[in-house]
Amino acid sequence: METLKLAIVGCGEIFISHWDGYVEQYEKGFRDFEITAFCDLDITRAEEYAQKYKEVFGKEAAVFKSVDEMLNSTVEFSAVSIQIPHNEHHIESMKCLKAKKHVVIEKPLAITLKAARMMMDCAKENGVTLKIMEDYRYALSERAAAWAVRSGLIGQPRVLNVMDIALRQWSWDWRDEKYIAGGGWTLDGGIHFVDLWMNILGGVKRVTAVSRCYDNIRYKKFIKKKTKANEKAISKYRKTRSIQFVERENLEDPVESNLEDTTSAILEFENGVLGTWVVSRAATGRLDRTFCLSGSEGSLLWKDGIYDYNNDLVISWEELQEEFLQNITKEEEEFLFPHGLRKTMALEQREFIDFLFGRRELEVTAEVGYRDLAVAYAVYESAELKQSVLVEDVMNLKVANYQDDINKVLEI
Ligand SMILES: NC(=O)c1ccc[n+]([C@@H]2O[C@H](COP(=O)([O-])OP(=O)(O)OC[C@H]3O[C@@H](n4cnc5c(N)ncnc54)[C@H](O)[C@@H]3O)[C@@H](O)[C@H]2O)c1
Repeated sequence: METLKLAIVGCGEIFISHWDGYVEQYEKGFRDFEITAFCDLDITRAEEYAQKYKEVFGKEAAVFKSVDEMLNSTVEFSAVSIQIPHNEHHIESMKCLKAKKHVVIEKPLAITLKAARMMMDCAKENGVTLKIMEDYRYALSERAAAWAVRSGLIGQPRVLNVMDIALRQWSWDWRDEKYIAGGGWTLDGGIHFVDLWMNILGGVKRVTAVSRCYDNIRYKKFIKKKTKANEKAISKYRKTRSIQFVERENLEDPVESNLEDTTSAILEFENGVLGTWVVSRAATGRLDRTFCLSGSEGSLLWKDGIYDYNNDLVISWEELQEEFLQNITKEEEEFLFPHGLRKTMALEQREFIDFLFGRRELEVTAEVGYRDLAVAYAVYESAELKQSVLVEDVMNLKVANYQDDINKVLEI
């Protein structure tokens, strides 16, 4: 049997979920991949996973503390999975692409569109594949939501209303630094949602936005506050570290952030849908994570389900997933969830592996990641210019005022 030899670059926070994805694949019987190297600037992280790999998969993997070292070694691999801070995406991925390795990289594709273009060109020039990891749409619930809208359960989609309102006073390391992260939560987390909406509704044509930084102080030392109400509030939409609660009286070690903490945007989709997208991590009090798409015959409220014309909840979120599975063929189900895989990371890893073996097409390509990045950055560009921007102009690099500063500082 053919085996894909894979190297891992970046064994930090998100690799915990990637690891679970590889384990789920293994548990469901997939044996066509092998991890031959773990690489992290913090070698102890690479070593920890090499040890786990030996325990779970029964095989040895090499460890490296830099991509250069890994590429110069004799260890065999034909593909690399990269999950590192945004400012390094183009640097480390292009080293691998130039060495003729296929690359799958965490979102956002790059810290700017210019850097993303360089990566895409580099992949083409070297005849290898560059894929983005954008996992949210692979979830059963999101597949069901997309199916519901496409099947006409809410009629003709009209209005998308998104409130992503919370408070984050704690410091999130490199994510609070513009020249490493690129943007705040609108870019970092928002890009996932942009991908979900465009997967359902198609492209965004124009964006009009404003941004603010209400509070640029974050605290490195904090104590997490755990109450039942908070846990419930967090699980209401989606668990994410971006909205964990902390004890206000125990915040210590302040640091300054040079990023926005709030944006408010109007999204005009190509199909006529009007979206309002409000993001804040500076809002005290009630958490609000309402994601709602309304149409001519009803609405889809994420986590709740389908409301009919008269505002009655007619299909719950859980029922929607069951209905979706009942309405697709066994072949379609196997295509979307091979061998019953459910973890989103496992599903995107599987797509990449199956694609490299010529068994299927890629769904979430670098081009998809580029378009998602353009819409997220259109918010920043519009806020900077104080006028509406066409996503097409952001994609063509005609509008890049906000990103030009990043490109200049990072010499992109
Ligand atoms: N899909 C998701 O839901 C999701 C969630 C979180 C993060 N992410 C993305 O994953 C990426 C990493 O985020 P994270 O939260 O894991 O960050 P992190 O800081 O927790 O981990 C990054 C790791 O990469 C290592 N590293 C940094 N530069 C390196 C280099 N040049 N070579 C080798 N190792 C290097 C660091 O030592 C660290 O261990 C980002 O692109 C982020 O946006 C995606």
